[in-house]
Amino acid sequence: MRVVSGIQPTGNLHLGNYLGAIRQWVAMQHQAESLFFLADLHALTVAIDPKELAANTIEMAATLLAAGIDPDKAILFNQARVPAHAELCWLLQGTARMGWLNRMTQWKDKAGKNREGASVGLFTYPVLQAADVLAYQATHVPVGDDQRQHLELARDIATKFNLDFGVELFTLPEPFISPAAPRVMSLRDGTAKMSKSDPSDASRINLIDSDDAIAQKLRKARTDAEPLPDTMAALAERAEARNLVTIYAALAETGADAVLAQYAGQGFGAFKPALADLAIAVLSPIRERLTRLLDDRAAVATVLEQGGERARGLAAPTLLAAQRAMGL
Ligand code: ADP
Ligand code: NA
Repeated sequence: MRVVSGIQPTGNLHLGNYLGAIRQWVAMQHQAESLFFLADLHALTVAIDPKELAANTIEMAATLLAAGIDPDKAILFNQARVPAHAELCWLLQGTARMGWLNRMTQWKDKAGKNREGASVGLFTYPVLQAADVLAYQATHVPVGDDQRQHLELARDIATKFNLDFGVELFTLPEPFISPAAPRVMSLRDGTAKMSKSDPSDASRINLIDSDDAIAQKLRKARTDAEPLPDTMAALAERAEARNLVTIYAALAETGADAVLAQYAGQGFGAFKPALADLAIAVLSPIRERLTRLLDDRAAVATVLEQGGERARGLAAPTLLAAQRAMGL
């Protein structure tokens, strides 16, 4: 089993990123051969500030290390240091069809009405994603709901390539759905995803937030005046309450019903401080490690360099085989 997954090096990671993605990676590195990369090439599909991109890449790598990614267990690198990603992407662009990419809902969402003004890279983004995983013969790719369609596309591209060139080259990657990955919602609106793009900082808990900031944001989180029920089903119409219980369960690594069994009948006046204590207990060690790592950015860069070297070695035979199959 080989797992490959990437994350864009955008700044300011939040609790949603941690519980929904990063913590799954940390667990995965013990279960499978794992390659995790900072998707700095994907970041180029929208306008970027080079200085910011460089800083975000190091900060994101530091965050992953602080959260528990172990460079002795997982290969951690940034995409740009492994040219096979971009090269294979180009080779696969002869295989991918315009119609396939046109159907991608993320393309439609992100380009919106301004297709003519969107970058070409935004359109071919899923082909680079296909190259990211096919280059390593990944067997499994962790995907959230929003990425399922892109993984399906990677499988279609791999299948057509193998067929067109009469080779058994690319492994078809399977989705790896982690049952423990919750969808964390905004603290201000239980129907919106917690996101770094939300203009309200109070809507999210950032991994760099101080203990006081965490406590304050949770204290001010939107809720209702009802006490907690004893099942999640009874919270169907109470999005904000459901979200806080979901967050508690994820942080405590338990089930939501177990949390409700403990807090049923109590109001948020009691629940929120307990949630804050738990969030601080989980997040403050990560923040402290992150602070230390950011004091030595060169050491973080070295981890990425070493990971890049290992990744280049793993991707090289597949890239060469793809070139050979195509007469290059
Ligand atoms: P954002 O929505 O803040 O821009 P990204 O889209 O960069 O976050 O997501 C990075 C990773 O974190 C992805 O794997 C994504 O599925 C996960 N993720 C982002 N927001 C959440 C959330 N609110 N709940 C759970 N997982 C999330
Ligand atoms: Na996003």
